[in-house]
Amino acid sequence: MPVITEIEDLRRIYKRRVPKMFYDYAESGSWSEQTFRENTSDFDKIYFRQRVAVDMDNRSTRTTMLGQDVSMPVALAPVGLTGMQCADGEIKAAKAAEEFGVPFTLSTMSICSIEDVAENTTAPFWFQVYTLKDDDFMRRLFDRARAAKCPAIVVTVDLQVLGQRHKDLKNGLSAPPKLTVKSVADMMTKVQWGLGMLGTKRRFFGNIVGHAEGVEDPSSLHTWTAQAFDPSLDWDRIKQFKKMWNGPMIVKGIMEPEDAIAAVNAGADAIIVSNHGGRQLDGALSSIRALPAILDAVGDKVEVHLDSGIRSGQDVLKAIAMGAKGTYIGRAYTYGLGAMGQEGVTRALEVLHKEMDISMAFCGHRDITKVDRKILRIPKGFSGDWED
Ligand SMILES: Cc1cc2nc3c(=O)[nH]c(=O)nc-3n(C[C@H](O)[C@H](O)[C@H](O)COP(=O)(O)O)c2cc1C
Repeated sequence: MPVITEIEDLRRIYKRRVPKMFYDYAESGSWSEQTFRENTSDFDKIYFRQRVAVDMDNRSTRTTMLGQDVSMPVALAPVGLTGMQCADGEIKAAKAAEEFGVPFTLSTMSICSIEDVAENTTAPFWFQVYTLKDDDFMRRLFDRARAAKCPAIVVTVDLQVLGQRHKDLKNGLSAPPKLTVKSVADMMTKVQWGLGMLGTKRRFFGNIVGHAEGVEDPSSLHTWTAQAFDPSLDWDRIKQFKKMWNGPMIVKGIMEPEDAIAAVNAGADAIIVSNHGGRQLDGALSSIRALPAILDAVGDKVEVHLDSGIRSGQDVLKAIAMGAKGTYIGRAYTYGLGAMGQEGVTRALEVLHKEMDISMAFCGHRDITKVDRKILRIPKGFSGDWED
């Protein structure tokens, strides 16, 4: 068993164990990948204030996200094709989240279906919906999420059109992978992954295949997105989704204060400051830099969560100290899943928890709910001093 001390250890193992097509799918951003890189590097620009001789005994990282008790303020973000990173990946990740006491969010573009995850877990999970044109399909998705007892939906609003990731096009990304000389040669070197895939029937988009009509090639993410996603989305449509769902709604993909206000007006109960992990608009600010202005705009009205770029418990602590009520991880748990299945996701969560807990103690705090900006040194102009 390899010694895992940081998320980067999991990424390295993941890279060796999973076909290149799926590793590249996760480990890339759109176009030049500037936003993908800055999502992580901007966290490094924020420093902590070390405190000493403060009682650090009996610490707690427990808090709530959307009224739900969590063992730490970290949820698993919706990640499409998780079941291609590892056989039955969504079920394994959801189980690890359940054991750790953090929320799991299932993507519309998952391999395991809503029903698969519900049947194999006991903790409630959140369901992420993309904003699709087909009303009947949307209604059915909401009904299925209700039947699975999902307590909240996450509506992703930053993917009306798909950002271009060069590697996905070059690799011919699909689920299941198309059998070409190149892909077969690569998969033959990923024995454990291949055996897992042979042992499961879950190899297609489980929420879509058999549920959506008129999709010509549901194995292709690009074809499906182009056909089914709604480029004409507006806030009225999001209000309709809130009505159709009639329950707690988290709006994901907010980067500007104006949009945060619009999301609140559309009925959001929480918003996620997110640039989709740098996968959509390259050249957008990192999420952590976008956070303060959004908190100023709506922080007293809804819970503000954050994702994009979190690779350590210190990143989580910085986001919480800046004012986010919760965070999400995408790649950090995907690395763990691809590296070591369910156990790898658990290791990722353990690593983050330990880093957050110890760093909180070094900053002189014992309770994550009491942490605030005073533990940070944020450089002047960090969030930008922009021309209007
Ligand atoms: C491989 C991959 C697939 C993703 N698929 C989805 C998805 O289906 N739905 C969605 O709302 N966001 C999706 N995202 C974005 C994540 O929910 C999250 O915003 C992002 O991963 C956060 O950045 P991080 O990976 O740096 O933690 C995906 C991200 C990755 C890396």
